[in-house]
Order: sequence, then C-alpha cells, then structure tokens
Amino acid sequence: MKAECKQWLEKKLAKLQGSENYTPEKTNETIAKQYGLKTSDIVKLNYNENLYIPRAKVIPLLKQVAEECDFRIYPQEEEIRLKEKISQYLNVPQESVTIGNSSDEVMERVIRLFLEAGNSAVTFLPTFTVFKYCVQYQGAEFVGVPLKNDFSIDGAGMRKAFNKDSKLLYLCSPNNPTASQLKLEEIEALTEEFPGIVLVDEAYAEFADYSIVPLINKYENLIVLRTFSKAFSLAGLRLGYAVANPNLAKALDKSPAPYPVNVVSLSMGRKMLENINIMQESVKALKAERGNLINQLNQIKGVQAFDSKANFVLFNTAKPYEGVYESALKQGLVIKKLGKLLAYENCLRTTVGLPEMNVKLLTALREYMGEKA
Ligand SMILES: Cc1ncc(COP(=O)(O)O)c(C=O)c1O
Repeated sequence: MKAECKQWLEKKLAKLQGSENYTPEKTNETIAKQYGLKTSDIVKLNYNENLYIPRAKVIPLLKQVAEECDFRIYPQEEEIRLKEKISQYLNVPQESVTIGNSSDEVMERVIRLFLEAGNSAVTFLPTFTVFKYCVQYQGAEFVGVPLKNDFSIDGAGMRKAFNKDSKLLYLCSPNNPTASQLKLEEIEALTEEFPGIVLVDEAYAEFADYSIVPLINKYENLIVLRTFSKAFSLAGLRLGYAVANPNLAKALDKSPAPYPVNVVSLSMGRKMLENINIMQESVKALKAERGNLINQLNQIKGVQAFDSKANFVLFNTAKPYEGVYESALKQGLVIKKLGKLLAYENCLRTTVGLPEMNVKLLTALREYMGEKA
C-alpha cells in the first residue's frame, strides 16, 4: 500500500470508528454465561419482536417457498408480486410501493436520496435512535425537539426548528419508545408546513388505532415507512417497505444496486399477506395481553406504565432504572433500559411477551420493588 493511501485509510477508519452508531445489546449467550443461566431460559423482551405468531404457523409457509422458488434466478418477479400484495393490503396503487431490505434500509435510502451535507433533519425526542445515526452518517444536521410530558408533540417547538435547510422531518407513530400515536391532524398540519420530505415511521401500525397511509395521495412530500418485522413476526428476514405517491415512490425505487431483497424474504412477505389471518389473530391476542400487562404493571407500587399503541410498554420506576434492569436480567429477563426520558427519571421498556413471560417479569418487578410476589 502506498504511504498516502495508508494515511488516508487510517484517517477514514478512525472517523468511521468514531461515528455514533446503533449498538446491538448483549446476546442471549453472553447473558446466560454472565449470570450462570441456560441460554434457553433467557426471555428476550428488549427488541419489540412479535412472539405471538407461533413458529409452527410460519414453517409450512417457508416450506412452500422452498418448493416454489428458484434460487438461481434474480428476484425481479417476486418483488413485483409482493408489491401487488402490499398494494391490496393497504389499498394503495402498486406504483406507490417500494420494497427494501428492512425498514431501516428504506429509511437510510430516503436519507441518502433527500438529505445533503448542509441540510438538517428534524424530529421529536425521544424517538427511534437509528434515524439520528443515519442522518449523522450522511453529514447532515440532526435537530431533536422534546415531546411534551404527555408524549404529545410540541407543535410550536417543532415549527421553530423548521428553516430553509430542513429537508427531512421524521415522525415515528406509534413512537418508539413512548408507544404513543400522533394525532392524524397533527401529522397533516406538519406535513403541510414542512419545507421538505415528511417520513412517517409506522413500524407498529398494525398494533395501533389508525394509519396515515390513506393520505399519501394528498401530500406529495409524504413517505410512510412500514415493516414485516413487527406484526408479521419476520424480523429475522429483514423485509420492509415504504408507500408514497407514485412520483416519489418511483424515485425511492431507483437504485444503482438492483434487487436489494432476497427471494425468500420477498416470498415470505407475500405468503404472510396471503394468510393475513395469522397476523390478525396474533395482533388481537397481543393487544388483549398488552392491556393486562399495563394494568398489572400499574398495580405494582413504584411503577408507572404508560398506555401503548404498539407491541411494547414503556414504564417508569420509583427505584433507579439500572437496579430494576439488573434484577430482571439476573433472572434471565432482558428488558430495555432507557433512563431519563422527559420528566420521567427511570424509564424501561418491555416487549409485550407471551402471557407466561409477562408473569415472570411482573413477579420479578414485584419482588424488586418491595412487594411480596
Ligand atoms: C420505530 C421503528 N422503526 C423501524 C424499526 C426497524 O424495523 P426493521 O426491522 O424493518 O428495520 C424499529 C425496530 O425496532 C422501530 O422501532
């Protein structure tokens, strides 16, 4: 390697190493080793995955995919088939759909296409952190405006942050980690006023009360991000998509690297939509259990659980959050520690697990918070 290349590469790598990034949490294996547990005993409630679709319901679909797909061929046709199914599912034109290798990948694509150095991206805080990392990677400015303490938007504060360089507004709804959903009128008002693209992240829409999707034809600057990772339980297959008015969707679809998604993921997405009752039943069961979990959490002294429109619940504790987190972890229960959010000092987040998992978590919390289990 030439000396000048070495110098450039060292600088470049140092810069990349130093950039703020999404850091995955400890693996089940690491936790099991650390606390002397069996890996199979770990209950993972920190990533908002949907455990309500039994694997037994998905495996037969995967077997069909193995029979039907020719893995030797590029997945052009399967992408078109999935677009057709998504368009029927959301009642939007097929030309409005763009598919990606997870919704994170589509989000990154939106940022790459619409944000330049010198532009800024606006959102509220707290929200899904991947957005901030992608904006910073792009060399654009990240502006976060705190939510109000009831998790509603500070409309005046948001508008104050808009200027001629603001080119992307990110609205996560239902929002991770608050689990609250923005009012449609609020999203509409901001979309009308914002001088750039408005990206509404609806990763959890299936667990919520409504969706902004019907408005994509009204607003030429609106993109709605969706995923198969949550309600459809396909997080491991990395399949996401966005819908927007056809003009915008066409631009999103234009990629120098063709076929970003593999044929297995595309086909499984289609199968899940063809068997939509699997998702619908799981969401119904999860929502019932979500209500129970929130009620039970709120009965524990020193625990305040917030309402949820997603498949997870945010709660605040009277005791320091690190201790609460550790006490659960020692029993193999992995929840997400968040710390201070707005006026709440000790926030933690848990996925709505299967009933038996929630019982374990509630028991651990009751014990730690000083109540007899
Ligand atoms: C708000 C939000 N958007 C997107 C994602 C990621 O979705 P995907 O698996 O499609 O990248 C998550 C995952 O937790 C999320 O909370």
